[in-house]
Amino acid sequence: MSNLNSATAYHHQTEYSRDSGFGPGLDWSNQPRTAKVFPNAETVPLPHELTLPRIEAARVLLGRLHRNPEPLNLHVLAGLLYMAHGFTSQIDYGTEVLYYRSAPSAGALYPTEIYLVAHGVDELEDGLYYYSPDDFALVTLRKGAPPPDVPGPALILSSVFFRSAWKYRDRSFRYCLLDMGHVIENLTLISPAMGLETSFEPDFDDDVLNDYLGFDPARERALSLIRLDSRAEISSAPLYDATAVPSIVPQAEPVAPREETFDLITSVGHLTSAPLTRNGLITLKWSAGTRIDLPSMPWDDFMEPTLVEVLQKRRSRRNFKPRDLPREDFSRVLDLLTTSDVGSLINLGVTANSILDIADGFYHYRPDSHDLDLHKGGFLTPAVSTAALNQDWISRANLVLILTAPLKELEESLGRRALRLVYLAAGRLGQRAYLAAEIMDWGCCGIGAFFDTEVQQALTLPPGEEVLYLISLGPIKKRTHGGRPHRA
Ligand SMILES: Cc1cc2nc3c(=O)[nH]c(=O)nc-3n(C[C@H](O)[C@H](O)[C@H](O)COP(=O)(O)O)c2cc1C
Repeated sequence: MSNLNSATAYHHQTEYSRDSGFGPGLDWSNQPRTAKVFPNAETVPLPHELTLPRIEAARVLLGRLHRNPEPLNLHVLAGLLYMAHGFTSQIDYGTEVLYYRSAPSAGALYPTEIYLVAHGVDELEDGLYYYSPDDFALVTLRKGAPPPDVPGPALILSSVFFRSAWKYRDRSFRYCLLDMGHVIENLTLISPAMGLETSFEPDFDDDVLNDYLGFDPARERALSLIRLDSRAEISSAPLYDATAVPSIVPQAEPVAPREETFDLITSVGHLTSAPLTRNGLITLKWSAGTRIDLPSMPWDDFMEPTLVEVLQKRRSRRNFKPRDLPREDFSRVLDLLTTSDVGSLINLGVTANSILDIADGFYHYRPDSHDLDLHKGGFLTPAVSTAALNQDWISRANLVLILTAPLKELEESLGRRALRLVYLAAGRLGQRAYLAAEIMDWGCCGIGAFFDTEVQQALTLPPGEEVLYLISLGPIKKRTHGGRPHRA
């Protein structure tokens, strides 16, 4: 194992720089598969007749949704899983088919997996299940109620590291968390629309969950827990008898012909499993520049499309065509992005380019007061595009969101788990950006590949402010990737 001693050190050791190179090229003979296969496993098919809510996406993102809670049953779960991480379109590569999903993934490698701890779910036996998007089914891994220290009903999200590390090597722990954040935001947005009460818990006992799921944490690790409120009467009688719970029955086929593990990923996974120390959140330090108030915009004209439509259409679109954007549209998009994590965990900066009545520049957005501070003036997107490994399409986006966090301070205040929290928060905000773009009929693309120090320098970020994720947004030439609905 590497001698990693802080989460911030992992972040620094996985920075891209012009001198560092990107490691060996891809070994296509060892390409990982993007979902697990359990041969001969017992499965529970998920119902294909889904009752999906006809609720406007903008209303959901703005948190203006009031629905009575529904009981948790297989139909509701099927809708939740399909919308959060289901296949939405496909592309044929010769004999291979690549499925796209409602959440993006760095390099389309899809390291995130979802497991269900079923306990008191209508129409489903208690047990541990793997959500198989390939078959749209639940694969039975264990039968019986979960042990007392495993929460249920709940979803556990894990990352299969080699899927992403095959391409991104040590840096992939960042991408695994960002990808997972996208899926978590889907789950969080869809749940209330389906009448479910869910809560995202970043702090849990890693060892307990990894053991229950049968993981070797160097290869796959539980990284998020979402509790589902079933509203069912779950007996408090001691349901769990260790001797009666069979070990995980089916074994998944190998993720790749020659799965490798990476010391730095194993170390940072272990290091960040420390519980949160909860010393309180820090105050984010940004020098206040010129303040710009944004108008509060009505949403009555944006009651289409529905949440289901935007999830099915969501794709990464890079064919930006900048035009002069009304300040009102800029204000609307920032409204849709706001989550409770922004401001308390991560900073949301934005480079604005050709927004009417707003000078080009890099701004810090304050969600509570819905206003901006100018941090650095000028037409900065070309410099960001150069720093992002010369991906030149970025310079044509009207907006580039810059998600950052004072990682070292957060680590000192919250403990090493802070690294997970900030990356998951950045991924969640990224998913909002993708969905907001669909609502506005714009394009959006997440950007995980950048020379870290060059972005910091291009935007003159405050010292210690680490760059987590960039997201380009804005009008595009024409919509590509229609998004064929999945058979479900
Ligand atoms: C964390 C993350 C980082 C990404 N980084 C880049 C990037 O640097 N450049 C890029 O062109 N696309 C990037 N993407 C977009 C993915 O390539 C895209 O999601 C994937 O190919 C699947 O396509 P889809 O989003 O259209 O479904 C990123 C996506 C995520 C979630």
